[in-house]
Amino acid sequence: MATLSLDAVRKSYGNVPVIHGVSIDIADGEFVTLVGPSGCGKSTLLRMIAGLETISKGEISIGDRVVNDLAPRDRDIAMVFQSYALYPHKNVAENMGYALKLAGRPKAEIERRVREAAEILDLVPLLQRKPAHLSGGQRQRVAMGRAIVRDPKVFLFDEPLSNLDAKLRVAMRGEIKELHQRLKTTTVYVTHDQVEAMTMADRIVVMNQGVVEQAGRPLELYDRPRNLFVAGFLGSPAMNLVTGTVEGTAQSASLVTADGEKLPLPGLRPGIAAGRRLILGIRPEHITLVDAGGESTFSARVVITEPTGAETLISTRLGATEIVVVVRDRIEQGAGERLHLAFPANRVHLFDPETGLRIE
Ligand SMILES: Nc1ncnc2c1ncn2[C@@H]1O[C@H](COP(=O)(O)OP(=O)(O)O)[C@@H](O)[C@H]1O
Ligand SMILES: [Mg+2]
Repeated sequence: MATLSLDAVRKSYGNVPVIHGVSIDIADGEFVTLVGPSGCGKSTLLRMIAGLETISKGEISIGDRVVNDLAPRDRDIAMVFQSYALYPHKNVAENMGYALKLAGRPKAEIERRVREAAEILDLVPLLQRKPAHLSGGQRQRVAMGRAIVRDPKVFLFDEPLSNLDAKLRVAMRGEIKELHQRLKTTTVYVTHDQVEAMTMADRIVVMNQGVVEQAGRPLELYDRPRNLFVAGFLGSPAMNLVTGTVEGTAQSASLVTADGEKLPLPGLRPGIAAGRRLILGIRPEHITLVDAGGESTFSARVVITEPTGAETLISTRLGATEIVVVVRDRIEQGAGERLHLAFPANRVHLFDPETGLRIE
């Protein structure tokens, strides 16, 4: 096991920069997810840690050792990819032990380590099978087994569950988390799926266009996104974001949108005076249905309702602005009807429309 540290790491392909100075310190035994939209540089960064891409600038260290110029096989890492590329003519045991065989380990040791990994991953009954006779989830477990047998200092995962169907993905997500709790190997896990990133990680790093937007514990980022990008990226359905201008006094302020609709702006903070332009963020689950006429309420028209059983998603419109509400109740109102809504002051996020930064 080891710490992993990235210090002002940059990458350009030719003269096109794609990673613009990324610094991340990962503690020994920590599980960190790198999440961001497709093309933001997650795989590039992971491949630089693995030694599969050169580092244009900056330093990557594993433990106390700078690894910039070390070959991949000397970095003591193991990587699991989305396409697990098992050898079709080798059985599960041979696939899992192949790296050890290449490294010239004795046969008895290979057998023991493959067996141990197979026990951890519930693969013992399948050791003699060929990949063609395994399910998608079992193949992905073999790919993980191949990484585990090497007992690396660091595990790197690049979207390992993207090829699996939704139900299996949820199951494997739990398995990988459990595996980490058991092995406690330092792990970097890349995904574009924010739910996967949130649920698995000790710490989550949100990337966008080659930079880190924010890093921290999952719920820290969820509750206090430092900018509009993180606010909009984490959470499903996404945070409602309403642009408008402040009107009124500290006692009864509202945010007025371009088309004249009003949202209550409860608990107005000092320094936010009438006339200031703001973006107000409120998560769908923090809006509640209320009776008409209460304090700090507003009303919006139902566009569609989507019952999922456990909860109901309601898309509403306040003028031109869409506001999504998630409630635990089953609601009766149909399209076009008016809903009375409210949200508590301490759930409101405010952002500066110019800089996109959170206003404290
Ligand atoms: N070998 C390459 N040559 C040139 N550009 C590349 C290469 N690999 C990746 N890129 C570019 O680098 C950016 C980041 O890609 P990537 O790390 O694969 O993103 P992600 O894994 O987040 O989807 C993209 O704009 C991609 O087009
Ligand atoms: Mg990728």
